Amino acid sequence: MAAPPGRSPEGALRVAVIGCGRVGATQAALLAAAGHDVVGVDVDESRVAALAAGDVPFHEPGLAAPLAAGLSGGRLRFTSDVAAAAGARVHLVCVGTSTRHAGAGARRGGVEAALAGLVPHLQPGDVVVGRSTVPVGTSRALAARVERAGATFVVQPDLLRTGPAVPHALDPGRVVYGLPTDADGVVTPEGEKARALLAGLEPHAPAHELPAVVTDYATAELAALATGAFLAVKASFVAAVTVLCEASGADVAALADALGHDTRIGRRWLDPGRASGGGRPTEDVRALVAAAEGLGVGRETALLREVDAVTVRHRVALVDLVRDACGGAVAGRRVAVLGAASWAGSDDVHDSPALSVAAQLQLQGAHVTVTDPRALDAVRAVAPALDPAATVAACVAGADAVVLATPWPEYAALDPRPLTALVARPWVLDACHVLDPARWRAAGWTYRAAGRR
Ligand SMILES: NC(=O)c1ccc[n+]([C@@H]2O[C@H](COP(=O)([O-])OP(=O)(O)OC[C@H]3O[C@@H](n4cnc5c(N)ncnc54)[C@H](O)[C@@H]3O)[C@@H](O)[C@H]2O)c1
Repeated sequence: MAAPPGRSPEGALRVAVIGCGRVGATQAALLAAAGHDVVGVDVDESRVAALAAGDVPFHEPGLAAPLAAGLSGGRLRFTSDVAAAAGARVHLVCVGTSTRHAGAGARRGGVEAALAGLVPHLQPGDVVVGRSTVPVGTSRALAARVERAGATFVVQPDLLRTGPAVPHALDPGRVVYGLPTDADGVVTPEGEKARALLAGLEPHAPAHELPAVVTDYATAELAALATGAFLAVKASFVAAVTVLCEASGADVAALADALGHDTRIGRRWLDPGRASGGGRPTEDVRALVAAAEGLGVGRETALLREVDAVTVRHRVALVDLVRDACGGAVAGRRVAVLGAASWAGSDDVHDSPALSVAAQLQLQGAHVTVTDPRALDAVRAVAPALDPAATVAACVAGADAVVLATPWPEYAALDPRPLTALVARPWVLDACHVLDPARWRAAGWTYRAAGRR
């Protein structure tokens, strides 16, 4: 018997993934690994060529294996031709919508452009899933375009992570379904059908039961932004109490533990080293503020606006600690910055706390060398005034101060003893609170961390 349209003979779904960045490529590879028949579509020809050859074009640990398995098993292919999406039953829209390049309009525009290409290839009954982060209140208009083709639009934003994409996709913690609703807020029959279809499409193991939040478009849109913004609030709270710890002689690491053992608060994202913030959580704070202003309730977001200010002040405070250690001025001093990526495990330097501190020191006249296991190419591209060093040893050679600025595990595990002889002065600022102070002090270093004794 012939398979119904959109289903392969084994009963797995045919899926199109539009936009094959970290989110889309990961979804495509994992869905193929789960047995679905997947086509990945991207406007970037070089990205398509790389993925089709089994090369992951960005640093994403764990993605190469499912990608290779999907390609060799014939269940996964990549193309720049959106017409290849025709015949798929589910279409995941994962295009880039970051505000980092073009402001809030880019968030909506990216998805609109993707839909403009996709809609002519939709069939009645198809489900289009918006996984990109979009401004609050825009999904209804996107849904209307999709509905004109007889398809259903579901908002299922990729909820924030700041770590590897594969484990996150396999265990996102919860699934949010933003479904079409009627005038009374009740999910429409089309929405229920779409949800039932998508329940069989999660890349995580079916046995793994995740909490599902079934809601409307606006709530799902807000869930994406509010997740990131909440984490930024948590981190900025620690930055604020770090100042109190500095002033009172208290210890912020012990304080974070004392707070974190309270299950109402939770320990995650209270690490003092996160307090310099940056990356997607910061973007989400700004997007939420913009959304509130657009909805005429901007006054209620004073807390969120302050998050940004706390983050900036915390970074300046780190620079001040280096300056004080250099006798009140860094001009002419050599400062080594270990880490440039926005977070460990990434080659992304967007709004990187490490680069922000490095750039401030350089602007104050320091000679700043930077090293990073993954992000040196990005450093060369965005911060050419900094001096990139391939190794930690080359980076710290002759340094008057060393700043550990991205908490890569290999930096946390550094043996300080061989480094002592390389630097001009063994002084280290542990901006990430990951070094063992006793170990570094025993090796002759002056160890400093904001809010720590
Ligand atoms: N990466 C994360 O950690 C993360 C976390 C939460 C949410 N998100 C959201 O998920 C979405 C995707 O993020 P990402 O990190 O994968 O982005 P990305 O920038 O890495 O990749 C986006 C891809 O979309 C492609 N693209 C752009 N317009 C297209 C079009 N019209 N048709 C086909 N392809 C197109 C680009 O060429 C690029 O390859 C964004 O909305 C982002 O805000 C990402």
